[in-house]
Amino acid sequence: MGESEGSILNSPTMEKIGDSVYASIFKGHGLYGIMGAVVVAVLVPLVLSVILVGKKKVKQRAVPVQISGEAGLAMRNARSSKLVDVPWEGATTMAALFEQSCKKHSRERFLGTRKLIIRDFVTASDGRKFEKLHLGEYQWETYGQVFDRACNFASGLVKLGHDVDTRVAIFSETRAEWLIAFQGCFRQNISVVTIYASLGEDALIHSLNETQVSTLICDSKQLKKLAAVCSSLKTIKNVIYFEDDDTGSDLNSSKNMSTWTVTPFSEVLKLGKGSAVHPNLPIKKDIAVVMYTSGSTGLPKGVMITHGNLVATAAAVMTVIPKLGSNDVYLAYLPLAHVFELAAESVMLAAGCAIGYGSALTLTDTSNKIMKGTKGDASALEPTLMAAVPAILDRVRDGVSKKVEEKGGFVKKLFSIGYKRRLAAIEGSWLGAWGLERLLWDVVVFKKIRSVLGGKIRFMLCGGAPLSGDTQRFINICMGAPIGQGYGLTETCAGAAFTEWDDPSVGRVGPPLPCCNIKLVSWEEGGYTTSDKPNPRGEVVVGGFSVTAGYFNNEAKTNEVYKVDEKGMRWFYTGDIGQFHPDGCLEIIDRKKDIVKLQHGEYVSLGKVEAALMTSNYVDNIMVYADPFHNYCVALVVPIHQVLEKWAKEGGIKYTDFPDLCDKAEAVKEVQQSLLKVAKPAKLEKFEIPAKIKLVPDAWTPESGLVTAALKLKREQLKAKFKDELRNMYA
Ligand SMILES: *[C@@H]1O[C@H](CO)[C@@H](O)[C@H](O)[C@H]1NC(C)=O
Ligand SMILES: *[C@@H]1O[C@H](CO)[C@@H](O)[C@H](O)[C@H]1NC(C)=O
Ligand SMILES: *[C@@H]1O[C@H](CO)[C@@H](O)[C@H](O)[C@H]1NC(C)=O
Ligand SMILES: *[C@@H]1O[C@H](CO)[C@@H](O)[C@H](O)[C@H]1NC(C)=O
Repeated sequence: MGESEGSILNSPTMEKIGDSVYASIFKGHGLYGIMGAVVVAVLVPLVLSVILVGKKKVKQRAVPVQISGEAGLAMRNARSSKLVDVPWEGATTMAALFEQSCKKHSRERFLGTRKLIIRDFVTASDGRKFEKLHLGEYQWETYGQVFDRACNFASGLVKLGHDVDTRVAIFSETRAEWLIAFQGCFRQNISVVTIYASLGEDALIHSLNETQVSTLICDSKQLKKLAAVCSSLKTIKNVIYFEDDDTGSDLNSSKNMSTWTVTPFSEVLKLGKGSAVHPNLPIKKDIAVVMYTSGSTGLPKGVMITHGNLVATAAAVMTVIPKLGSNDVYLAYLPLAHVFELAAESVMLAAGCAIGYGSALTLTDTSNKIMKGTKGDASALEPTLMAAVPAILDRVRDGVSKKVEEKGGFVKKLFSIGYKRRLAAIEGSWLGAWGLERLLWDVVVFKKIRSVLGGKIRFMLCGGAPLSGDTQRFINICMGAPIGQGYGLTETCAGAAFTEWDDPSVGRVGPPLPCCNIKLVSWEEGGYTTSDKPNPRGEVVVGGFSVTAGYFNNEAKTNEVYKVDEKGMRWFYTGDIGQFHPDGCLEIIDRKKDIVKLQHGEYVSLGKVEAALMTSNYVDNIMVYADPFHNYCVALVVPIHQVLEKWAKEGGIKYTDFPDLCDKAEAVKEVQQSLLKVAKPAKLEKFEIPAKIKLVPDAWTPESGLVTAALKLKREQLKAKFKDELRNMYA
């Protein structure tokens, strides 16, 4: 994910979601006693598949397009000959899109929230307390009601004394009020600054100061954090908070904030309702959002997203989700401060769908915060659409596989046959989609898995980081729904490429969205060129209506990675390396930054080597490092505690603690040999295999700042932290 990392969610939370999804799947669930159905399910399709073997035909999904300026191979979506910029005529800004959609769907359900019924705490055996919630059914506001509230908020904001020439920031978890405040600001042409909650204090202070935010909108949880850094937030005058049941007492404890006017959200609405202020609507090229995302290095950068960018992405993605409309229900729980979720909710708004809000910790019936015996968000909402990031889907997959493995015997066999049959159906003929067999397998194996997410999911959006092919297949099959994998960056307002629902292949990110062109530009130095065979390869460059205005207050960086061609089209240089398949679909294969040229001229693609070596049983994490002044590479390896300790125990290796074990020459040798073993099948060249390794005992977590929230390595930080270790390996 190019310049700003796809730091979508903080990983401990992701793990919890994954855990609870799979914990639910196999709870009290009898896979037994359905032998009859199984026999039918296996035999009938076997016979049928002999009779009806379908042939796959290749569908052209993108076609070459002429571009001006720099040489390169450019493609556009095959379905539309002209780039789309608006979902319909007149919806040229988010404000216009919102108003028109609210008018059109005025009586339909729009935003749904669950009311708290009981909050309770349970004490675990180790004395720790856990919050448990009993949440009610979804309470809905119609499009008409939401529109009124957004108008009231806009008026209230002005009445409150917010200077409309200054920016507003939203710093809150995803919820209905987020979207209402967001749209309210647009009615007064106010730019909204969004800050990703996991970025940390320094980043928060930097972002708010850099954009001179004067009104900060937050939830009560974030309000507590603000009290601590209050003295560093010089530009803030007003704070508006979303109320929760327990907000009051928190406010009194933070005397620090006396220089701020702190007002509850409901007060602002009341204020606005009493005295409407005439709207001052933005135009297409006005900045809607300054979105701060983590870079792999240094302070976060604010990407300036225009109204035109947001509506263009929404328009394009709407065409990719089949039959999208008012019957759809979307489960919203990813952070709205991330462009992927923001784009997804904009699509739902444009299409008149219902959006039900949930949270990562209350998603399923067995989620951490859900009181036993009560419903999680998905079963209460029964969504038809949801978004996910690869980290969640990977966990779900691992969890389901593990459970199946543990059950063993009949369950394992049944699952494995069902899985294989569905897989064959997807990859081979479309027989599986043809009815009977699919129905039977659904009843026998997959229905229970699906019910965890409410049972009605018909399409999943996935983005934020690359999704592995295996996981994509697994989720396709277990959830029975296609996954639309998106490729995009904050800089391209999420919109760049998107897989199409009828494309059964994996590992690719689809053709360009209809709002932009994608070109590949040769990178001779790195060995990727557009004349490569069998597929043209090169740096992925995105041009069109979704390409944003650049970085806030950073012209140098903007000019480095954004270019405008003779026809006025903006192009963003992603730094990702991709290849076009014959049908026009893009596959991301490498990262420009992660390729190093060794002393003798060989190129080492660090990411590729790491991915290969990660498959060793011993490796929890690994960073390969290549010094261009030497002819070999080295690696830092975080070993998996249990595995290494088990080996040491079996081999009778004496050690005091884990760090000590990591220093033992025998341990280093053992891990290095395991790397050699996996390097062979992965066809790594000799110079790609680390000649020396160093075992480091402590795991790399987002909290330690060594990996991004999406668990991608932060090479600069790792290099700095382990500079002595790295130097020693070259000594
Ligand atoms: C805030 O920004 C100003 C410039 O706009 C700068 O001089 C100052 O150091 C910044 N303060 C903090 C705390 O970042
Ligand atoms: C008030 O601010 C100071 C310094 O900014 C900080 O150390 C202190 O923790 C804050 N007090 C509260 C109650 O948050
Ligand atoms: C703060 O505490 C006072 C009493 O100490 C109470 O009257 C007031 O309502 C509290 N304020 C809030 C916002 O809860
Ligand atoms: C919206 O606000 C921006 C920044 O304050 C300003 O440059 C622009 O002219 C405004 N747009 C309209 C239509 O007033």
